[in-house]
This record gives sequence, structure tokens and C-alpha cells, in this order.
Amino acid sequence: MTDQRAAKIAEQFIAVYETAPLVFRAPGRVNLIGEHTDYNDGFVMPAAIGFYTHVAAGKNEDGVLRIHAQQFGESVEFALDRLAGPPRRHWSDYVRGVAAELQDAGVGGSGANLLVDGDVPLGAGLSSSAAIEMATALALATLNSAHLAKIELVKLCQRAEHKYAGTKCGIMDQFISCFGMANHALMLDCRSLDATQLPLPSPASLVICNTMVRHELAGGEYNERRSSCERSVKRLGQVLPGIQALRDVKIEELEQHRSLLNDVDYRRCRHVVTENARVQEAAHALTAGNLGRFGELMYESHESLDRDYEVTCEELNAMVRLARRADGVYGARMTGGGFGGCTVNLVDAEKSETFKQAMVAGYKAETGIVPEVYVCAASAGASQAGIASLL
Ligand code: GLA
Repeated sequence: MTDQRAAKIAEQFIAVYETAPLVFRAPGRVNLIGEHTDYNDGFVMPAAIGFYTHVAAGKNEDGVLRIHAQQFGESVEFALDRLAGPPRRHWSDYVRGVAAELQDAGVGGSGANLLVDGDVPLGAGLSSSAAIEMATALALATLNSAHLAKIELVKLCQRAEHKYAGTKCGIMDQFISCFGMANHALMLDCRSLDATQLPLPSPASLVICNTMVRHELAGGEYNERRSSCERSVKRLGQVLPGIQALRDVKIEELEQHRSLLNDVDYRRCRHVVTENARVQEAAHALTAGNLGRFGELMYESHESLDRDYEVTCEELNAMVRLARRADGVYGARMTGGGFGGCTVNLVDAEKSETFKQAMVAGYKAETGIVPEVYVCAASAGASQAGIASLL
């Protein structure tokens, strides 16, 4: 968020470690459209949001990585030669994983003291994990004077998530946390990594509705979806030589060779193939200022994720149903991995406050749960925070 926030974290660091730190921050994200397409070499359209994880960092001479998580009031320590190891299902996996991957890339001679804090809602599908990974990567790379291109840090964070958190994620979350731009969504080709910043029109607001149902991506369902896609590429490859990912399959080809797949795998493929087409159309609609069409594509995406990819849940569906009935909404859909978490809503900016109230009341009446609703702006990606003048 602001430099005041970074200054506060610097003060907390000084209280714990008694030296002055450098402070880094990286944002969470919302994905406007293009879900479960990134690990299929497809297209996505995320935006960074104004929730950040901060990492304050200083060197130590003790040969250890020391991490204090302010949010949990908890500290852990790892010897630098013992960073590797399987996922422990603990917040420190992300930090330890990034440090270990940096070591593998030849960076990381120095011991480090870190203090982590953030306001990205946890387990809400807004990429709190990518935010902590990116902020840690920037912090440790800078402390060790490493000259790694930002894109290398992005890939390294993705590897850390695979190996140390156990989620075989695509590259979307780390990429947008690094390269987000204020007031822009980013159209990313996850194969070539070509990225285009698309201005978000000011008459529309991004409103995020949190179902308050926590998702657990490492819980197996996510990796299972990815395996289904990879299995299908192998089968379809028997008749479509040269395909490397579902990105390469056209809907007509999928229909023609449907008998090669079982029903579940076929529906998983149908989601991915149609979703890739929707993202590309959505990019054209946004560029042309056609928010009506963009919104329709969001609803279609949600239906496909519900019916074919089966990653929504009752609460997410309730949120989207409520949004359809509300005034001033262009479109709504679940965002992120699914199984809980948030919806993203494109709403007429003048109606965003009344929309918020309607969603809180409607969702509470339907589910008994009080949701959180965030009216967001697309924000800047990861950076070092300027704190010197504030200390
Ligand atoms: C999670 C993963 C991403 C992406 C989304 C689904 O956020 O980290 O790589 O696959 O789910 O679109």
C-alpha cells in the first residue's frame, strides 16, 4: 500500500532485530478472466490489487535464514545449508522455498533476518502466496546483490511453490505480482510470456466479494485438474501430432476426437479450450471499450468453471447469482483456483458502493455468512519501498 505501511514494518523489524532493514513489497492479484489456462500454455488477464505483503530484510552473520511473521507472532529459523526439504504446510514454506531456489541459482551466501507482514487475505484466492514469494525473492536478491532479471525471479518463485508448497501452479500469480501496473489489467500469453498492459476504463470498478470459504489449493484437487489436462494432451496427441498443450487444440478438434477421452477429461478440456478463446475475445472487448461483452464473457467463464471444470462451490455460485441480480454490474465470476475464495465483479463505478451493500445483505441472507467486499483499483507490482525519509 503506502510508504507509511513500509515504515511501520521497518520499525517492527528494528524492534525484533535491532538493526535497520530494507523493505520490499509485492501485491496479491485478481484474475479478470482466463482461469486454469496458465498451466495449459494459454491466456490469462489478471490485475495486481492494492493488498500487499511486505518483507523487511537485513543481513546476519549467523549462517541462518531467520523469519518473523508479524501476523502470526511467530518466528522460525533455518540453517542456510538445510533449506531444502518437503512441504511442511506452514507459512514459512514459501520463504524457505524461495531462499532455497535462489541458492540453487547461485544466490544466497549471506544469512538473512526477515520480518513478514501483509494484508492480502489468506486462502481467499487472491494470491497471498505469490505475494510473499515475490517480496521475499526481491528482498533476498537485493541483500545478496544478485543481478537476476525480474522474469527469472518470477520463474524461481513458481518453482518454489511447486517444490515447497506442493502446488503445481502456472505462472500467472507470480507474473502479475511482479509486473502489475496501476489501472491496468495484463493480458499474458503464458507460453511466450508476451504481456500487454490493457488500460481499465475508469467508469468501471473492480469489486471483489470474499465468500469467506477458505480454499486449499495444495489439497490435491488443483494438481488433479492439471494432471487431467496433461493426460488429455497425450491422448489427443495420438491424432493431433505436434500439440504440446491444450492451448494448441481447437474446439472443433476436441469435439471430433471426444471419444478418445472419458467424460470428465473431455469436460476439463472443453473448459480450457473455450476459456482461451474467451480471454482473447475479452481483450478485444476491453480495448474496444465494450464492457457489456466483457461482462458476458465473465459470466460464461464462471459457468464453464462450474459445469465443466468443477472448481466452484455453492457459495461462489451464490455470489455470482446475486451479482447478476444487482444493479450496475457488467459481469461476475469466481477468480483464482476456486473451491472457495472470491468472485471478481466488473461494476459501474458510480454503483459500486450500493453494489457492495446489496452483496453483503444478499449473501448473508442466503448463506448466513457475512462476506468481505473490497472495491479495488488495479495496482503496481513488486518493488522496494522507500522508507528512509520516514524513519
Ligand atoms: C492458482 C494458481 C494459478 C492459476 C489459478 C487458476 O491461482 O496459482 O497459477 O492456475 O489458480 O487460474
